[in-house]
Amino acid sequence: MREAKIVEVCPRDGFQSVERHIPAEEKIKIIGMLADSGIKKIQATSFVSPKAIAQMRDASLVMSEAIKQRPHTRFFALVPNLRGAESAVAAGAKEITTVISLSKSHNMANIRRTHEQSLEELKRIRESFPEITVGVDIATVFGCPFEGPQTVAELLRMIEAVSALGVREITLCDTIGVAYPKQVANVMREALVHFPGSSFGIHIHDTRNMGMINSLTALENGAESVQVCAAGLGGCPFAPGASGNTATEDFVYMLEKEGWETGINFEKLLEAARYIVQNIEGVFSGHQVNITTPQAGSCC
Ligand code: COA
Ligand code: ZN
Repeated sequence: MREAKIVEVCPRDGFQSVERHIPAEEKIKIIGMLADSGIKKIQATSFVSPKAIAQMRDASLVMSEAIKQRPHTRFFALVPNLRGAESAVAAGAKEITTVISLSKSHNMANIRRTHEQSLEELKRIRESFPEITVGVDIATVFGCPFEGPQTVAELLRMIEAVSALGVREITLCDTIGVAYPKQVANVMREALVHFPGSSFGIHIHDTRNMGMINSLTALENGAESVQVCAAGLGGCPFAPGASGNTATEDFVYMLEKEGWETGINFEKLLEAARYIVQNIEGVFSGHQVNITTPQAGSCC
Protein backbone atom coordinates (compact mmCIF):
# COMPACT_ATOMS: atom_id res chain seq x y z
CA MET A 1 0.00 0.00 0.00
CA ARG A 2 1.15 3.51 -0.72
CA GLU A 3 1.37 5.84 2.24
CA ALA A 4 -0.37 9.23 2.23
CA LYS A 5 0.65 11.81 4.82
CA ILE A 6 -2.38 13.75 5.95
CA VAL A 7 -1.86 17.17 7.55
CA GLU A 8 -4.91 18.59 9.34
CA VAL A 9 -5.31 22.37 9.14
CA CYS A 10 -8.85 22.87 10.48
CA PRO A 11 -7.77 24.49 13.75
CA ARG A 12 -5.96 27.20 11.75
CA ASP A 13 -7.39 27.52 8.24
CA GLY A 14 -10.82 26.33 9.33
CA PHE A 15 -11.21 28.42 12.43
CA GLN A 16 -9.62 31.62 11.09
CA SER A 17 -12.75 32.49 9.10
CA VAL A 18 -15.18 31.86 11.93
CA GLU A 19 -16.47 35.18 13.18
CA ARG A 20 -17.64 34.21 16.65
CA HIS A 21 -14.73 33.52 18.95
CA ILE A 22 -14.44 29.80 19.56
CA PRO A 23 -13.38 29.36 23.19
CA ALA A 24 -9.88 27.93 23.61
CA GLU A 25 -11.26 24.85 25.45
CA GLU A 26 -13.46 24.08 22.45
CA LYS A 27 -10.52 24.40 20.06
CA ILE A 28 -8.37 22.18 22.27
CA LYS A 29 -11.16 19.58 22.48
CA ILE A 30 -11.49 19.44 18.68
CA ILE A 31 -7.71 19.27 18.22
CA GLY A 32 -7.67 16.36 20.69
CA MET A 33 -10.41 14.52 18.77
CA LEU A 34 -8.53 14.98 15.50
CA ALA A 35 -5.29 13.76 17.08
CA ASP A 36 -7.07 10.74 18.55
CA SER A 37 -8.29 9.75 15.10
CA GLY A 38 -4.65 9.05 14.23
CA ILE A 39 -3.78 12.22 12.33
CA LYS A 40 -0.08 12.67 13.03
CA LYS A 41 0.44 16.28 12.01
CA ILE A 42 -1.92 19.12 12.91
CA GLN A 43 -1.68 22.88 12.38
CA ALA A 44 -2.96 23.90 15.79
CA THR A 45 -3.18 27.68 15.32
CA SER A 46 -1.49 30.76 13.93
CA PHE A 47 0.50 33.42 15.76
CA VAL A 48 -0.76 36.48 13.90
CA SER A 49 -1.78 39.99 14.77
CA PRO A 50 -5.13 39.94 16.61
CA LYS A 51 -6.02 42.98 14.52
CA ALA A 52 -5.67 40.82 11.39
CA ILE A 53 -7.39 37.68 12.78
CA ALA A 54 -8.98 38.06 16.20
CA GLN A 55 -9.94 34.37 16.30
CA MET A 56 -6.29 33.43 16.89
CA ARG A 57 -5.73 35.63 19.91
CA ASP A 58 -5.53 32.55 22.16
CA ALA A 59 -2.81 30.91 20.05
CA SER A 60 -0.31 30.49 22.91
CA LEU A 61 -2.82 28.70 25.13
CA VAL A 62 -4.10 26.49 22.32
CA MET A 63 -0.60 25.52 21.18
CA SER A 64 0.82 24.79 24.63
CA GLU A 65 -2.25 22.80 25.75
CA ALA A 66 -2.34 20.78 22.52
CA ILE A 67 1.32 19.82 22.97
CA LYS A 68 0.79 19.02 26.64
CA GLN A 69 -2.30 16.89 26.06
CA ARG A 70 -1.10 14.99 22.94
CA PRO A 71 2.73 14.88 23.17
CA HIS A 72 3.02 12.33 20.35
CA THR A 73 1.24 14.43 17.73
CA ARG A 74 3.32 16.74 15.52
CA PHE A 75 1.76 20.17 16.11
CA PHE A 76 2.86 23.18 14.12
CA ALA A 77 1.72 26.77 13.70
CA LEU A 78 1.51 29.35 10.96
CA VAL A 79 3.49 32.53 11.62
CA PRO A 80 3.57 35.66 9.44
CA ASN A 81 6.67 37.24 10.98
CA LEU A 82 9.51 36.89 13.48
CA ARG A 83 7.29 38.05 16.30
CA GLY A 84 4.87 35.20 15.55
CA ALA A 85 7.78 32.74 15.44
CA GLU A 86 8.98 33.93 18.85
CA SER A 87 5.52 33.47 20.34
CA ALA A 88 5.12 30.03 18.75
CA VAL A 89 8.46 28.82 20.07
CA ALA A 90 7.69 30.25 23.52
CA ALA A 91 4.46 28.21 23.48
CA GLY A 92 6.47 25.05 22.78
CA ALA A 93 6.24 24.73 18.99
CA LYS A 94 9.05 22.72 17.40
CA GLU A 95 7.82 23.42 13.92
CA ILE A 96 6.44 26.52 12.21
CA THR A 97 5.32 27.56 8.76
CA THR A 98 5.54 31.01 7.27
CA VAL A 99 3.41 32.12 4.36
CA ILE A 100 4.43 33.98 1.21
CA SER A 101 2.02 34.54 -1.65
CA LEU A 102 3.32 34.02 -5.15
CA SER A 103 1.32 37.04 -6.24
CA LYS A 104 2.72 40.30 -4.93
CA SER A 105 -0.70 41.87 -4.38
CA HIS A 106 -2.03 38.97 -2.30
CA ASN A 107 1.17 38.97 -0.26
CA MET A 108 0.54 42.63 0.49
CA ALA A 109 -3.16 42.07 1.29
CA ASN A 110 -2.42 39.07 3.50
CA ILE A 111 0.72 39.95 5.39
CA ARG A 112 1.44 43.52 4.30
CA ARG A 113 4.86 42.71 2.94
CA THR A 114 6.65 42.83 -0.41
CA HIS A 115 8.31 39.59 -1.52
CA GLU A 116 11.67 41.01 -0.51
CA GLN A 117 10.39 41.88 2.97
CA SER A 118 8.84 38.44 3.38
CA LEU A 119 12.07 36.73 2.38
CA GLU A 120 14.03 38.97 4.72
CA GLU A 121 11.63 38.04 7.54
CA LEU A 122 12.04 34.34 6.71
CA LYS A 123 15.82 34.77 6.88
CA ARG A 124 15.52 36.36 10.32
CA ILE A 125 13.28 33.54 11.53
CA ARG A 126 15.71 30.86 10.25
CA GLU A 127 18.65 32.63 11.90
CA SER A 128 16.80 33.12 15.19
CA PHE A 129 15.59 29.51 15.42
CA PRO A 130 18.06 27.18 13.73
CA GLU A 131 16.75 24.24 15.79
CA ILE A 132 13.14 24.68 14.65
CA THR A 133 11.76 23.18 11.44
CA VAL A 134 10.61 26.10 9.30
CA GLY A 135 8.37 25.35 6.36
CA VAL A 136 6.89 27.75 3.84
CA ASP A 137 3.37 27.86 2.45
CA ILE A 138 3.42 29.46 -0.97
CA ALA A 139 -0.06 30.92 -1.44
CA THR A 140 -1.88 31.73 -4.72
CA VAL A 141 0.32 29.28 -6.68
CA PHE A 142 -2.54 28.34 -9.02
CA GLY A 143 -4.19 31.75 -9.28
CA CYS A 144 -4.63 35.02 -7.41
CA PRO A 145 -7.90 36.81 -6.62
CA PHE A 146 -6.34 40.12 -7.68
CA GLU A 147 -3.84 39.20 -10.43
CA GLY A 148 -5.30 36.02 -11.95
CA PRO A 149 -3.07 33.21 -13.29
CA GLN A 150 0.47 32.78 -11.97
CA THR A 151 3.29 31.21 -13.97
CA VAL A 152 5.34 28.12 -13.16
CA ALA A 153 8.48 30.16 -13.89
CA GLU A 154 7.56 32.59 -11.11
CA LEU A 155 6.84 29.69 -8.78
CA LEU A 156 10.23 28.11 -9.47
CA ARG A 157 11.93 31.44 -8.72
CA MET A 158 10.08 31.65 -5.40
CA ILE A 159 11.01 28.07 -4.50
CA GLU A 160 14.61 28.90 -5.38
CA ALA A 161 14.51 31.95 -3.08
CA VAL A 162 13.11 30.08 -0.07
CA SER A 163 15.39 27.09 -0.73
CA ALA A 164 18.39 29.44 -0.65
CA LEU A 165 17.35 30.25 2.93
CA GLY A 166 17.50 26.55 3.84
CA VAL A 167 13.78 25.75 3.65
CA ARG A 168 13.06 22.19 2.48
CA GLU A 169 9.36 21.78 3.37
CA ILE A 170 7.21 23.74 0.97
CA THR A 171 3.43 23.60 0.59
CA LEU A 172 1.89 24.73 -2.67
CA CYS A 173 -1.44 26.39 -1.91
CA ASP A 174 -4.47 26.92 -4.11
CA THR A 175 -5.76 29.76 -1.97
CA ILE A 176 -8.93 30.45 -3.94
CA GLY A 177 -9.65 27.02 -5.43
CA VAL A 178 -8.98 27.63 -9.10
CA ALA A 179 -6.55 24.76 -9.78
CA TYR A 180 -7.37 21.88 -12.10
CA PRO A 181 -5.77 18.43 -12.31
CA LYS A 182 -3.51 18.94 -15.34
CA GLN A 183 -2.19 22.15 -13.80
CA VAL A 184 -1.58 20.46 -10.44
CA ALA A 185 0.24 17.55 -12.10
CA ASN A 186 2.39 19.92 -14.14
CA VAL A 187 3.25 22.14 -11.17
CA MET A 188 4.16 19.14 -9.00
CA ARG A 189 6.35 17.62 -11.71
CA GLU A 190 8.14 20.90 -12.41
CA ALA A 191 8.75 21.53 -8.72
CA LEU A 192 10.16 18.04 -8.19
CA VAL A 193 12.33 18.07 -11.32
CA HIS A 194 13.93 21.35 -10.31
CA PHE A 195 14.08 20.75 -6.54
CA PRO A 196 14.40 16.98 -6.01
CA GLY A 197 15.76 17.45 -2.49
CA SER A 198 12.69 19.34 -1.28
CA SER A 199 9.47 18.00 0.15
CA PHE A 200 6.31 19.41 -1.40
CA GLY A 201 2.87 19.40 0.16
CA ILE A 202 -0.41 20.46 -1.41
CA HIS A 203 -3.21 22.62 0.02
CA ILE A 204 -6.35 23.01 -2.05
CA HIS A 205 -9.43 25.09 -1.40
CA ASP A 206 -12.57 23.39 -2.63
CA THR A 207 -14.31 26.37 -4.23
CA ARG A 208 -15.13 24.44 -7.40
CA ASN A 209 -15.47 20.96 -5.90
CA MET A 210 -12.05 20.04 -7.22
CA GLY A 211 -10.33 19.63 -3.87
CA MET A 212 -10.51 15.84 -3.96
CA ILE A 213 -9.27 15.35 -7.50
CA ASN A 214 -6.59 18.01 -7.25
CA SER A 215 -5.27 16.68 -3.94
CA LEU A 216 -5.21 13.11 -5.28
CA THR A 217 -3.50 14.29 -8.46
CA ALA A 218 -0.84 15.99 -6.35
CA LEU A 219 -0.24 12.79 -4.37
CA GLU A 220 0.01 10.73 -7.53
CA ASN A 221 2.56 13.19 -8.89
CA GLY A 222 4.89 13.14 -5.93
CA ALA A 223 3.40 15.37 -3.22
CA GLU A 224 4.83 14.31 0.13
CA SER A 225 1.77 15.40 2.12
CA VAL A 226 -1.74 16.76 1.70
CA GLN A 227 -3.27 19.49 3.85
CA VAL A 228 -6.98 19.01 4.48
CA CYS A 229 -9.57 20.42 6.79
CA ALA A 230 -12.07 18.40 8.84
CA ALA A 231 -15.69 19.16 7.90
CA GLY A 232 -14.41 21.09 4.88
CA LEU A 233 -13.93 24.32 6.81
CA GLY A 234 -11.38 26.87 5.69
CA GLY A 235 -10.88 30.12 3.85
CA CYS A 236 -8.57 33.09 3.72
CA PRO A 237 -10.14 36.33 5.01
CA PHE A 238 -7.78 38.25 2.71
CA ALA A 239 -8.67 36.40 -0.51
CA PRO A 240 -12.09 37.32 -1.87
CA GLY A 241 -13.92 34.21 -3.06
CA ALA A 242 -11.92 31.70 -1.03
CA SER A 243 -14.00 28.86 0.38
CA GLY A 244 -13.44 25.75 2.49
CA ASN A 245 -10.61 23.27 2.04
CA THR A 246 -10.73 19.68 0.88
CA ALA A 247 -12.65 17.86 3.63
CA THR A 248 -10.41 15.47 5.59
CA GLU A 249 -13.10 12.83 6.04
CA ASP A 250 -14.03 12.78 2.35
CA PHE A 251 -10.41 12.62 1.27
CA VAL A 252 -9.42 9.92 3.75
CA TYR A 253 -12.46 7.87 2.70
CA MET A 254 -11.37 8.07 -0.93
CA LEU A 255 -7.72 7.33 -0.18
CA GLU A 256 -8.54 4.20 1.78
CA LYS A 257 -10.84 2.93 -0.98
CA GLU A 258 -8.12 3.68 -3.51
CA GLY A 259 -5.53 1.67 -1.61
CA TRP A 260 -3.60 4.37 0.21
CA GLU A 261 -2.52 3.92 3.83
CA THR A 262 -3.31 6.95 6.03
CA GLY A 263 -2.99 5.49 9.53
CA ILE A 264 -6.28 7.21 10.42
CA ASN A 265 -9.23 5.60 12.16
CA PHE A 266 -12.08 6.67 9.91
CA GLU A 267 -14.80 6.25 12.57
CA LYS A 268 -12.95 8.53 14.96
CA LEU A 269 -12.26 11.05 12.22
CA LEU A 270 -15.96 11.08 11.35
CA GLU A 271 -16.79 11.64 15.01
CA ALA A 272 -14.54 14.71 15.03
CA ALA A 273 -16.00 16.02 11.76
CA ARG A 274 -19.56 15.54 13.06
CA TYR A 275 -18.66 17.34 16.24
CA ILE A 276 -17.31 20.27 14.22
CA VAL A 277 -20.41 20.38 12.01
CA GLN A 278 -22.70 20.34 15.03
CA ASN A 279 -20.78 22.83 17.14
CA ILE A 280 -19.07 25.19 14.72
CA GLU A 281 -21.75 25.25 12.00
CA GLY A 282 -23.84 28.37 11.87
CA VAL A 283 -21.07 30.75 12.78
CA PHE A 284 -19.62 31.14 9.29
CA SER A 285 -19.47 34.26 7.23
CA GLY A 286 -20.45 33.10 3.82
CA HIS A 287 -18.39 30.06 2.82
CA GLN A 288 -19.50 26.52 2.34
CA VAL A 289 -19.23 23.78 4.92
CA ASN A 290 -18.94 20.41 3.31
CA ILE A 291 -20.86 17.95 5.43
CA THR A 292 -21.42 15.20 2.89
CA THR A 293 -19.56 12.40 4.61
CA PRO A 294 -20.49 13.24 8.23
CA GLN A 295 -24.15 13.03 7.16
CA ALA A 296 -23.72 9.89 5.15
CA GLY A 297 -21.82 8.04 7.86
CA SER A 298 -19.26 5.32 7.35
CA CYS A 299 -21.46 2.53 5.97
CA CYS A 300 -20.62 1.63 2.37
N1 COA B 1 1.37 38.34 16.82
C1 COA B 1 0.64 39.24 17.52
N2 COA B 1 0.60 40.55 17.25
C2 COA B 1 1.33 40.98 16.22
C3 COA B 1 2.10 40.12 15.43
C4 COA B 1 2.10 38.75 15.77
N3 COA B 1 2.78 37.84 15.06
N4 COA B 1 2.70 40.82 14.48
C5 COA B 1 2.32 42.10 14.64
N5 COA B 1 1.50 42.19 15.69
C6 COA B 1 0.84 43.39 16.18
C7 COA B 1 1.78 44.52 16.45
O1 COA B 1 2.26 44.49 17.75
C8 COA B 1 0.91 45.74 16.22
O2 COA B 1 0.08 45.94 17.32
P1 COA B 1 -0.29 47.42 17.82
O3 COA B 1 -0.98 48.09 16.65
O4 COA B 1 -1.20 47.19 18.97
O5 COA B 1 1.00 48.05 18.15
C9 COA B 1 0.03 45.28 15.06
O6 COA B 1 -0.02 43.86 15.15
C10 COA B 1 0.54 45.70 13.73
O7 COA B 1 1.92 45.38 13.65
P2 COA B 1 2.80 45.63 12.34
O8 COA B 1 4.16 45.11 12.56
O9 COA B 1 2.64 47.06 11.90
O10 COA B 1 2.15 44.66 11.33
P3 COA B 1 1.21 44.97 10.14
O11 COA B 1 0.09 45.88 10.46
O12 COA B 1 2.07 45.30 8.98
O13 COA B 1 0.56 43.51 9.95
C11 COA B 1 0.92 41.15 10.01
C12 COA B 1 1.31 42.47 9.43
C13 COA B 1 1.62 40.11 9.18
C14 COA B 1 1.35 41.04 11.43
C15 COA B 1 -0.61 40.97 9.95
O14 COA B 1 -1.06 41.37 8.69
C16 COA B 1 -1.03 39.55 10.21
O15 COA B 1 -0.91 39.02 11.31
N6 COA B 1 -1.56 38.90 9.20
C17 COA B 1 -2.02 37.52 9.31
C18 COA B 1 -2.55 37.09 8.02
C19 COA B 1 -3.13 35.71 8.08
O16 COA B 1 -3.09 35.00 9.07
N7 COA B 1 -3.70 35.31 6.94
C20 COA B 1 -4.33 34.04 6.81
C21 COA B 1 -3.39 32.92 6.75
S1 COA B 1 -2.62 32.71 5.23
ZN1 ZN C 1 -5.92 27.79 3.05
